[in-house]
Amino acid sequence: MKGLRVVGTGRCLPKNIVTNAQLSRQVDTSDEWIASRTGVLQRHIATDETNASMAERAAQQALERAGINPEQVGACIVATLTPDYATPSVACLLQRGLELPEDIPCFDLNAACSGFVYGLTVARGLLAQGTKPYALVVGSEIMSRTLDFADRATCVLFGDGAGAVVVEASDSHNFVSVLGTRGDDTSLSCPVGGTLQMQGSEVFRFATDILPRCIHETLNKAGRSLDEVDYVVCHQANQRIIAYVVKKLKAPEEKFYLNVQYYGNTSAASIPIALDEMATKGLLAAGSRVLCVGFGGGLTWGGAWLEW
Ligand code: ACO
Repeated sequence: MKGLRVVGTGRCLPKNIVTNAQLSRQVDTSDEWIASRTGVLQRHIATDETNASMAERAAQQALERAGINPEQVGACIVATLTPDYATPSVACLLQRGLELPEDIPCFDLNAACSGFVYGLTVARGLLAQGTKPYALVVGSEIMSRTLDFADRATCVLFGDGAGAVVVEASDSHNFVSVLGTRGDDTSLSCPVGGTLQMQGSEVFRFATDILPRCIHETLNKAGRSLDEVDYVVCHQANQRIIAYVVKKLKAPEEKFYLNVQYYGNTSAASIPIALDEMATKGLLAAGSRVLCVGFGGGLTWGGAWLEW
């Protein structure tokens, strides 16, 4: 088995939208500050949704769009740092909700905002040794659970949501990934049961250093150039980070998908939400090639060459 093919995508966003103006009534900030520093205009914040309920809706949609019977799913991986329970995992709840087979691995994976790229890589490994052809890879987060709304430099950045893909083991499609980790609990951390603490400028420096390198390394490993990629989907943390990467790589801006304006930073969910949005807009179809690249807490990073 050579690689993976994406056969379906889905997403679920909480119904409650909070604009910058609404947030400014609760937090000492302004639409002007948030929009100019980050590009974020609004975010979805969960009210009665749970991590598992969003993950299940996104995954159900991905299965339906793929036309896949749950019996054909060989693994279910949920990338998240904000599960509903330490156990059962969100993925175990999906096994029940989606009526996935019992003889398959279902588990959560925490690589913070790089989690979805890690999840794709693990799915490929599991499919290579399994008997069923498809895997569900979901990113789902309720980041608002971790936020300290007195910390204006951090709480304005994040949002909640879930995205999902169904991938198929394929000999005719390539899949290549590059993953990395640097133990660092000072730039960004979230104690269990506590709130997210972030040194924004340090994370900004890390992101602008690692993303171009990770894109280069992933392309090298795939034996491809940026010209052969239809879209680059960066983890949607900050419009300025993506603009910096575009400039550094001297790349066409339109190749870098951007939707952080509408969702904020949804951590592990940001890349699969973007992929589903792109698919439903008709930007992705059979033959499309996408480079996904994430960075986040850990510190972690990951790039993946992905085909449709
Ligand atoms: N509203 C108004 N003013 C604010 C706000 C706010 N929400 N937040 C900070 N400020 C003020 C600060 O107090 C400071 O004021 P001062 O100069 O009087 O002291 C000023 O704005 C500038 O603050 P900085 O922190 O220097 O602002 P900066 O331009 O660096 O932008 C930001 C901060 C947006 C957080 C930026 O550093 C960033 O995007 N970092 C990357 C963060 C990121 O990508 N995180 C995702 C990690 S992924 C994961 O795994 C969770």
